[in-house]
Amino acid sequence: MFPCVLNGPVRCWMKLTTSIRAFTAVRPRLVLGIETSCDETGAAVLDDTGIILGESLHSQKQTHLDSGGIIPPVAQRLHRENICRVVQEALDRSGIEPNELTAVATTVKPGLSLSLGIGLDFSLKFVRLHEKPFIPIHHMEAHALTVRMLHPVDFPFLVLLVSGGHTLLALAKEIDEFLLLGQTLDVAAGDSLDKIARSLSLRNHPECSTLSGGQAIELLAKEGDRRAFHFKTPMGQIYDCNFSFAGLQNQVTMAIKKKEKEEGVETGQLLSCVKDIAAASQHTVASHIAKRTHRAILFCKSKGLLPQHNPTLVVSGGVASNEYIRQTLKIVTDATGLHLLCPPSKLCTDNGVMIAWNGIERLKQGKGIMSHTEEVKYEPKAPLGLDITSEVKDAAIKVPPLKLRINS
Ligand code: KG4
Ligand code: ZN
Repeated sequence: MFPCVLNGPVRCWMKLTTSIRAFTAVRPRLVLGIETSCDETGAAVLDDTGIILGESLHSQKQTHLDSGGIIPPVAQRLHRENICRVVQEALDRSGIEPNELTAVATTVKPGLSLSLGIGLDFSLKFVRLHEKPFIPIHHMEAHALTVRMLHPVDFPFLVLLVSGGHTLLALAKEIDEFLLLGQTLDVAAGDSLDKIARSLSLRNHPECSTLSGGQAIELLAKEGDRRAFHFKTPMGQIYDCNFSFAGLQNQVTMAIKKKEKEEGVETGQLLSCVKDIAAASQHTVASHIAKRTHRAILFCKSKGLLPQHNPTLVVSGGVASNEYIRQTLKIVTDATGLHLLCPPSKLCTDNGVMIAWNGIERLKQGKGIMSHTEEVKYEPKAPLGLDITSEVKDAAIKVPPLKLRINS
């Protein structure tokens, strides 16, 4: 088998061990990622180059749409019913046996306690059974790093995470080192869009019954006139990078109630101006996000926090799949000389792939890999990185006006 006849047995043995070493060295590291922090049960197997070998996702979206919001015990039950199948499907599709895995990575923070608990329990049993190392994952860190699976983005970069549970701006300095520049003071952008969609009874709209609130608003806004309603952009006089959506949600709900009265429309029925309200709400959300992001860019530039070469803004989280919001952010990055990167929509919403990728990133750097799991706990609340929001506020940077004109 080995060309060792002329070299004698010693040479032959050396060749054999070298080949074995070479084989082990090139064998890719494989990570199983598991996500259950909110309302998606996700699992994926990735190799260390970011190739998705197998994945599976069970979304609870329809159940929660039907009940008018996420009920944590219901989310927990659905995770419990699906996790085994989802993980098995991801493994089967990858053709990888549990014993071939290098490690298992699972979201342990932040999220709904009842949901996180299911993923963590399952994962700990799995790693103990198969004697694999465990990598606990911060859900927001995973959203922030997903882009590196697809593009070679170097640190540091600015990241905007907009989802149903979070809205934040941070500087990513390393895979596990972030500076928190701003975050929502009340509800998240996606949550406010979900609630506006509910106030508009979009579930009863023939084109929207299976869409999340944000998706429904985006779809209807395409045919709406955003100028038909004027909603005030939040926090115009506060010169920091925090966000607030509760007041805007309130403005929109009041406008809906007023119109319902005018049109004699009962709760649950659709208003004639539903598309205009969707367009105006989406525009105000986009404009608020754009202004805070613009300030974050100027702050980072003033402190020399971004690289001279190819400074980048990464946008991720469920709301980042909104094309109108992406275009608004493009206006900001074009004006400030940043490169804008968003993962494809499928990877912006919660999934197992981003968790597995975070595991790969940590594995490559040898960070946070646990062989003893007795101490691992889930944490429903977990800030991302070092909070420098008050330093950003003290800088009180005034953002020059930008025309946010989007062709929708
Ligand atoms: O990241 P994600 O899947 O879950 C959380 O961690 O929250 O985000 C879900 C959120 C929901 O609020 C949903 O309405 C919103 O993302 N979303 C959108 C769009 N697609 C999903 N918001 C605006 N436009 C969209 N196209
Ligand atoms: Zn998320």
